[in-house]
Amino acid sequence: MADEPSGVGVMTRYEEVAATLRERIEHGIYRVGDRLPSIRTVCQELNVSISTAQEAYRQLMDAALIESRPKSGYFVLPCRIPSVLPSVSRPAQCPLDVSQWDQVLELVATQRDDKRLLLGRGVPNLEVASLKPLSKILAGLHRSNDLHGFNYDKLSGSPELRQQVARLAVASGCLLHPDDVLITTGCQEALSIALRTLTQPGDVVAVDSPSFYGTMQILKANGLKALEIPTDPQTGISLEALELALEQWPIRAIQVTPTYNNPLGYTMPEARKRALYQLAQRFDVAIIEDDIYGDLAYTQPRPLTIKSFDTDGRVLLCSGFSKTLGPGLRVGWLAPGCYREKALHMKYVSTGASATLPHWPWRSLSPRAILSVIYALFPASINASGM
Ligand SMILES: Cc1ncc(COP(=O)(O)O)c(C=O)c1O
Repeated sequence: MADEPSGVGVMTRYEEVAATLRERIEHGIYRVGDRLPSIRTVCQELNVSISTAQEAYRQLMDAALIESRPKSGYFVLPCRIPSVLPSVSRPAQCPLDVSQWDQVLELVATQRDDKRLLLGRGVPNLEVASLKPLSKILAGLHRSNDLHGFNYDKLSGSPELRQQVARLAVASGCLLHPDDVLITTGCQEALSIALRTLTQPGDVVAVDSPSFYGTMQILKANGLKALEIPTDPQTGISLEALELALEQWPIRAIQVTPTYNNPLGYTMPEARKRALYQLAQRFDVAIIEDDIYGDLAYTQPRPLTIKSFDTDGRVLLCSGFSKTLGPGLRVGWLAPGCYREKALHMKYVSTGASATLPHWPWRSLSPRAILSVIYALFPASINASGM
């Protein structure tokens, strides 16, 4: 019975059982170090004989996926399990209204506690020693009688902070003048300003798929339609599908997160980033590039931004310190390229000037000190960016 071919004779019964268990390991149902169900449990659950279950476990041991420990059972071994990539997305092939505000509201309203790790929002470790210089300056501000931090800031943001942002951008291949940068309230506001700068209600925006839920809600709130483009979990938005979409639909902007994408995690290869820029040039469309995770590179130099290829100002680069320092600072920025005047107006109508106090430390920290705060975990960057 045990080794009878199953179904169409492709797999024996024990191979089938082994495949089932393997699939569970690959999907994290049994994680590294976990004990697998006993032979007896497998027999009952999958309705097979003891010898079939034993043979299935032997196969998994041969594949170095599990080990047998005397008198303890079978355990999942580390590292031999190839990570399971999601398949290339296949979204609807037409522009659609965005929904799901209820789910997003629930997600952002959920508070972290000891029992729950929230995976819906990326927050850096806020207990690292490298944040100390920042909190010292902020504490000093509270003690001092300097009231400048209580006043309105410039509409485009503090010149010192804009200069630091311009210097930081060198590491991603961008040559920005401080006047090319607008300080925003987090990257979310940068994305919102960029989208409102480029579009009118009813316009179509091409997005990678799946896309960051915050951006999708900006589309929804502004009456924009999302045209989701199939996206590969390793190389990013499909340029072939995007080209077809650009031929077919009146796309006003392309919004992508090409470096350490949220939620898929990929970084588009440099050649594809460049090709995306060239495609946008050919169809005369603007690109909104979300680079909020870009400075978290493990290796240096960090990946180039699409903005680094921008010769005609069509790329609006959005980023901020939420993932590198702390989201509560709400320090974000937008490099709006040739759309600066309209973007400035959009900033005025959303927040006017940004909060001044969180921007204050940047006036007294030297560029090098700022970079060492950011890059305490990534020391090579300081040299890579030439600071
Ligand atoms: C891809 C992406 N863009 C933008 C944001 C928003 O950043 P901020 O908190 O600076 O507004 C996030 C935050 O989770 C994000 O994951």
